[in-house]
Amino acid sequence: MEKTIKIEQGDISNLQEIVSLNHQIFDKMYEKDPYTLEEYKDRLKNKSPFILVAKLNGKIIGNAISYKQDGSWYNWIMGVAEEYRGQGIGTQLLEQREQYAIQYGYKSITAKVYGVSQAMQQLYKSRGYKVINVLKSKNDPKYDALIFELKLN
Ligand SMILES: CC(C)(COP(=O)(O)OP(=O)(O)OC[C@H]1O[C@@H](n2cnc3c(N)ncnc32)[C@H](O)[C@@H]1OP(=O)(O)O)[C@@H](O)C(=O)NCCC(=O)NCCS
Repeated sequence: MEKTIKIEQGDISNLQEIVSLNHQIFDKMYEKDPYTLEEYKDRLKNKSPFILVAKLNGKIIGNAISYKQDGSWYNWIMGVAEEYRGQGIGTQLLEQREQYAIQYGYKSITAKVYGVSQAMQQLYKSRGYKVINVLKSKNDPKYDALIFELKLN
């Protein structure tokens, strides 16, 4: 059977599959439960999100969702199924989001990453994103949110 992982542009019709994957990825990770399908639909309503899916044999094993927010390009959600991490899929998803923002003339990319997402923080830092703000959690420093920014030319 074909073992190649392909990254392609997805759309709203992929949301159900994305949400069920992200429920596994984000389960117990944050203070709150992972977002529901309704919450994804609500967040993305009236936006033209850029949705990327990483597929293996037609099954979604990774995803990234970005959209325009306050004039900047906002990297919202990203996740790779645990068993496929460490193979560069996250890097490819991020590169493609960056290319999209550059292509559409955005001046910067922002992202919000919680203290619990160490791999994501590492990945952003390695690609030149800088921490421009920290939103402190009232309850636990591991839920502090770092706001990352990458300036584009
Ligand atoms: C963040 C995530 C998407 C990275 O996906 P991935 O496919 O494993 O990423 P890559 O293989 O391309 O790794 C890219 C970089 O991430 C960082 N990274 C990956 N795993 C890491 C780990 N266990 N610890 C520290 N840094 C790590 C490294 O900088 C790595 O670069 P390197 O391979 O040169 O060391 C994945 O770990 C994930 O889904 N995590 C859970 C969900 C999450 O935290 N999402 C972000 C919040 S929206």
